[in-house]
Amino acid sequence: MTNIAILGFGVVGSGVAEVIATNNETIARKTGEHINIKYILDLREFPDHPLGGRVVHDMKIILADPEVTVVAEMMGGAHPAYDYTRAALEAGKHVVTSNKEVVATFGAELLRIAKEHHVRYLFEASVGGGIPVIRPMSSCLAANELSEVDGILNGTTNYILTQMIHAGKTFEEALAEAQEKGYAERNPAADVEGTDACRKICILAALAFGRLYAPSSVHTEGITAVTAQNVADAEALGGVIKLIGRAGRVNPADPDSDVFLLVSPHVILHENPLSCVDDVFNAILVRGNAVGDVMFYGRGAGNLPTASAVVADIIDILTHKDAEIFVPDWESAVGAPADHTALPYAFLCRIETSAPFADAIASLQAVCAGAEVLTSADAFDGTLAFVTPVMSEAQLRTMAAPLGTLTSVIRVMP
Ligand code: HSE
Repeated sequence: MTNIAILGFGVVGSGVAEVIATNNETIARKTGEHINIKYILDLREFPDHPLGGRVVHDMKIILADPEVTVVAEMMGGAHPAYDYTRAALEAGKHVVTSNKEVVATFGAELLRIAKEHHVRYLFEASVGGGIPVIRPMSSCLAANELSEVDGILNGTTNYILTQMIHAGKTFEEALAEAQEKGYAERNPAADVEGTDACRKICILAALAFGRLYAPSSVHTEGITAVTAQNVADAEALGGVIKLIGRAGRVNPADPDSDVFLLVSPHVILHENPLSCVDDVFNAILVRGNAVGDVMFYGRGAGNLPTASAVVADIIDILTHKDAEIFVPDWESAVGAPADHTALPYAFLCRIETSAPFADAIASLQAVCAGAEVLTSADAFDGTLAFVTPVMSEAQLRTMAAPLGTLTSVIRVMP
């Protein structure tokens, strides 16, 4: 029997207890032993839960108990989660986590500490909820030079956008539902402002390129500025709006070229499979020089899907007890990623103009040959929707300046 401690008994922590309770026999068949949750660390008491008697409030009890070999950290937030993780690794305990904030901020250091103490720090649940992506990227795609990772990385925002687009719900209604279903972060601003997706793309980029960029260095836009008008413009263009995290080599053919990262709403054209990824589902596309494009798809949030990944990490530890496992070596990136405004994109724009319809179109075409206008004369209300040919954002802004005020700029996924 392996004794573990659960840190944080919220949505994911209690989901881990549920998966272990339901599947412990199956787990024992695969690993040769059962998992025993010896402690649950939380500020609260859970008198009505069958494991209520295992609750402790002092991390020192867990650190001092040599019977606990694995700590599952599902507290959320940077502190004290990082401090407890570090202390557990230094005490020679393996740590598994769903905490993307800690992995994205301190992952390089924690992996180094784990290696020094001959234990493992595993974080399959930190990206994509229940989707297997961390381990496949580190092992199954290890033969490749990776040039790009793109994804729908946040279940809450994908749920909100889907409900707004297909079910006519308001942003507030859809967010309340996502909270009820246990998808949203404790402070849902991290979801809707793109911070959560940013942490996840930083983790994926570190796996792909070996360098962990600070989330604060990554250009991040959420979905709070997306309007019904933007949704209609995307539809007119033949696509849908999704919050996308992107990371890649500036020159895909050169594995030494700089890495770009960004998080922002993108128009995904209907022919792109990411356009069909709806509700809480996430999808991650990885491009390798041998394998080509690979896509991972599944439930990106929720108690049991996320717990599925956490418990899989525990099982991985149990089944590789005596092996010296390869631990990824991440460099902490110094400085910012490559300039995202230089990336080539077509842009879906809306511009406010004082000119009459025909003049506005003539002026647009004079400065931007190849721009496609989406607004009809009948629908013209002083704003014009158009899509540009591929250019950089810097070029777009210079080009559009004399035309009027750009009220929205949305990247079209290449
Ligand atoms: N709030 C996150 C999401 C949870 O909605 O994707 C899973 O990381």
